[in-house]
Amino acid sequence: MTQVGIIGAGPAGLLLSHLLHQQGIASVVLETRSRDYVERRVRAGVLEQRSADLLTSSGVGERMRREGLVHDGISLRFAGEQYRIDFRKLTGRGITVYGQQEVVKDLIKQRLADGGEIWFETEVTAIEGIGGDHPRIQYRRNHDPASLECDFVAGCDGSHGVSRTKFPSPSGGGHGGGSRVYERTYPFAWLGILAKTPPASDELIYAYHERGFALHSMRSPEISRLYLQVDADETMDAWPEARIWDELRVRLDEPRLHAGEIVEAGITPMRSLVTEPMQRGRLFLAGDAAHIVPATGAKGMNLALADVKALAEALTAWYRSKSRDLLDRYSDSCLRRVWRAEQFSAWMTGLLHRDPAGDPFDHKLRLSYLRYIVTSEAAATTLAENYVGFEGA
Ligand code: APR
Ligand code: PHB
Repeated sequence: MTQVGIIGAGPAGLLLSHLLHQQGIASVVLETRSRDYVERRVRAGVLEQRSADLLTSSGVGERMRREGLVHDGISLRFAGEQYRIDFRKLTGRGITVYGQQEVVKDLIKQRLADGGEIWFETEVTAIEGIGGDHPRIQYRRNHDPASLECDFVAGCDGSHGVSRTKFPSPSGGGHGGGSRVYERTYPFAWLGILAKTPPASDELIYAYHERGFALHSMRSPEISRLYLQVDADETMDAWPEARIWDELRVRLDEPRLHAGEIVEAGITPMRSLVTEPMQRGRLFLAGDAAHIVPATGAKGMNLALADVKALAEALTAWYRSKSRDLLDRYSDSCLRRVWRAEQFSAWMTGLLHRDPAGDPFDHKLRLSYLRYIVTSEAAATTLAENYVGFEGA
């Protein structure tokens, strides 16, 4: 028995458990993977300023402040031209580049130091009784089935988790039980590598090229994170290392990029998805379990952290005063921010990717829009204020 049963030890589940602990609320985090696996899983790495501030104000931002790379802008490249979008000048804010698995490591370390319960290698198989006051999480640990009773269940188990099965599936028409799923797929994916090579640029480079999109990001002065747009059905077999580096140099227009040892490589599909509402009875979804954004806008981890901040506040209000008010409004309070990020991510994706079936007219429109962004302060501000995190949503 615990107060809040949290499924998933990603950024969402771990930060929620930390924030609840700070309010004296007990939780158990159930995670199907091992600690080693979740600490090594390479994902995105851009924190909006408010996400970095949240980690700092809740006492888990010390290493991020030491090792994270604060960036005041990004570079946009297209048609042989390059421009800088100056976030600091346009918005007064910046971003911090710090890998998601570093956030995960910091949170696990803090939770364990505080005596927190994280049950690794524990697969949740079902959630029962969410319509009543004592929902139960069914799980399997060392092959033995067992169940955990709690007051509330937080579904922080990502896009392939078990919590989503309590909501309509997108392929099932998107309707059911008063909730709805909105979804969009894209005809391309991202091939991502993590490589032991110094970044060729101080800031992220977003490149639009006739051959497709490319992104140059980084994790440290020695490690680069690089992405290429590939077709949705492509596999790594088609991408020997030499081809990856050649393609990156061409699309990024960056001959200085040195091929280094590739320590991780994989292909990630691009998808947009929103579940409305993000709650049912005593089950509350947060992070990727509730919504997915294509990675172009770098919003995934930021949305996850903002969701659990709201959820922790709502649960705290419930335990303090038994008021369900904030809990009832949890989904509404998240969805405006979620949809802002969805629109921005879909827009950035459309702006920077080559549609495999697209015609030359689309290509010309994209180039014109990119030129508009780099010559109009109003257009550049639109990109900048959404990238650093629009706070009016
Ligand atoms: N039982 C227990 N754990 C599960 C189950 C299950 N049945 N299904 C999934 N999980 C775990 C996964 O192994 C994973 O560790 O839930 C966790 C979900 O974590 P994330 O996928 O990282 O999702 P979230 O915490 O919402 O993070 C959101 O961070 O870096 C980004 O790309 C990432 O956008 C995503 C964001
Ligand atoms: C990353 O560093 O992994 C990264 C950066 C920006 C993005 C996506 C991923 O838009």
